[in-house]
Amino acid sequence: MKILKTPAEAIEYRKSLKGTLGFVPTMGALHEGHLSLIKKAREENDFVIVSIFVNPTQFLPGEDFNKYPRRLEADFEICKRAGVDAVFTPSPENMYSEDEILVKAPKIKGYILEGFFRPGHFDGVLQVVNKLFNIIRPTRAYFGKKDAQQLYLIKQMVKNFFFDIEIIEGETIREKDGLAMSSRNIYLSEEERKRALSISKALKRAAKLSMSTKNIEKIKEEMLKILDVDKLQYIAFVDRDFNYIEKIQPNNTIILIAAYVGSTRLIDNIWI
Ligand code: PAF
Repeated sequence: MKILKTPAEAIEYRKSLKGTLGFVPTMGALHEGHLSLIKKAREENDFVIVSIFVNPTQFLPGEDFNKYPRRLEADFEICKRAGVDAVFTPSPENMYSEDEILVKAPKIKGYILEGFFRPGHFDGVLQVVNKLFNIIRPTRAYFGKKDAQQLYLIKQMVKNFFFDIEIIEGETIREKDGLAMSSRNIYLSEEERKRALSISKALKRAAKLSMSTKNIEKIKEEMLKILDVDKLQYIAFVDRDFNYIEKIQPNNTIILIAAYVGSTRLIDNIWI
């Protein structure tokens, strides 16, 4: 497995590949969620590249950029075992220059929900994904449904900037008890982890209720009874294009939650 440390190295390596290329962009601390994307990419392409880059521009001041888990050697091992051809691990200095041309998330859908509570977060995500797409030039790029708004915005960027890249969605991978896999779960104490479970339980209950009622207020009320978090930021009901909806639309609804458990901010969602 090749380790590519600079954009120039990655661009050179990319030129040498003849065939389809699957790309899995990550910030490392790889877990089963990432692995399922890597496996899918491995099955569907001749070559697979994974990027590991904790992107500074998508963290707001005061967020967990410095303490974000970094486990490069363990991640390399996981990638090697999964049959990845190359890992791209650039440094921030190699990826960014001063006074850059900036990509802006759309004014509405980039600034609601996650974008409201983390203003500018999606500007940073789109900026780095734009760079990564230009360096790697994948045939297909793989993103998880757990970051549903990110996934939507990346698809929008691909359309708006005419990238010739197919975006492939990966299902949210959960622990046995339902907790959505996230690199941030390691911040949770034992007690917090138990309460964090209330998030996936509330979503599961909402999905079940949506089979008998389309009434969002009623569903939300039931979800609030289950949730045992320290600070709920939002429960939201949107369609697959991130428009707010007033009634459940079968096969076109995403229910999302963002909440703090202790000092850890968690997000999860369910597609119905
Ligand atoms: O989802 C992530 O891990 C990041 O937002 C991404 C897409 C790798 C961009 O830094």
